[in-house]
Amino acid sequence: MAKQRVLSGMQASGLLHLGNYHGALENWVRLQDDYECFFFVADWHALTTLFQDPGKIREHTREIVLDFLACGLDPERSAIFVQSEVLQHAELFTLLSMLTPVPWLERVPTYKDKQRDLATSGKDLSSFGFLGYPVLQAADISIYDANFVPVGEDQLPHLELTREIVRRFNFLYGDCLVEPKALLTRHKVLPGLDGRKMSKSYGNAVYLSDDDAAVRQKLMNAVTDPQRQRRKDPGRPEVCNVFAYHRLYAPAGRLSQIDDGCRRAELGCVDCKKELVETFFRAFGDIRARRRALAGDPGRVRQILDAGAARAREVAERTMIRVREAMKMGWRP
Ligand code: TRP
Ligand code: SF4
Repeated sequence: MAKQRVLSGMQASGLLHLGNYHGALENWVRLQDDYECFFFVADWHALTTLFQDPGKIREHTREIVLDFLACGLDPERSAIFVQSEVLQHAELFTLLSMLTPVPWLERVPTYKDKQRDLATSGKDLSSFGFLGYPVLQAADISIYDANFVPVGEDQLPHLELTREIVRRFNFLYGDCLVEPKALLTRHKVLPGLDGRKMSKSYGNAVYLSDDDAAVRQKLMNAVTDPQRQRRKDPGRPEVCNVFAYHRLYAPAGRLSQIDDGCRRAELGCVDCKKELVETFFRAFGDIRARRRALAGDPGRVRQILDAGAARAREVAERTMIRVREAMKMGWRP
């Protein structure tokens, strides 16, 4: 039996951090074992917030592709590509936009939330494209007949809207598009270095593209138990961000020792952080080495993206032939 299809994308609005790794990428890598996968960098989506600064999008796109490959997305098994290199997404976006009621878009919680959040950033979010963001996402998904879309909780409204648009399309033009399901990712939660959600806008993130010095500096400055003022004060691992990282990266058996040492004030925060730096580099050693190698071989990366886009186009064009016919586009005698 043919494998079911999975598709997901990462917006090129910033660099990927450890939260993106544990919240998404790590899971995508596993999905490759069981599904036919399509993974892409959504550079058009990034234009909705960065149209005044498009050079950034190209930089982010390059870094994200390196992150994808270094983390284990496998071009032998999955199509890995850049959204803007598969023009069919734009065509389907245009067609879907014709049948999508504007009130559906205005009702998407991320629409007003993001406008509010970014109001102080000097970004202009009054564009038609920003309102249409979820329609482009619906096109990204349905153009591959994707059965499953691995996403975080924040993306569920976009997935629901995709399903509504697909249903409306099928009602109007006959069964044509596949209604995708969200694959909610259960993931290990990693706070930012200051305890808030890890996010580029808070400046509390460790990026997959950070070099050794940056990682060391960030981890050594992470906020620990605020009540542990002096070395001889006992600490509370359960409120400490450094401990939250140890939970993910400490070797078996070591975590309870750290917990103990902290509570008895036998382990100092500086030593505890130094240990984290070491275990982090061990956990990400292979990923970081692969990333460095690929960064030094842009020709190889370009080749992977060419092959990914070619594969994506093949599937997308097959869907578009169906869609054009369903919507009675074109004419021939
Ligand atoms: N909106 C998604 C995000 O910000 C990115 C994205 C664009 C996406 N197109 C997609 C995710 C299609 C899944 C499927 O994370
Ligand atoms: Fe956190 Fe480690 Fe300091 Fe305890 S010893 S407060 S776990 S950094």
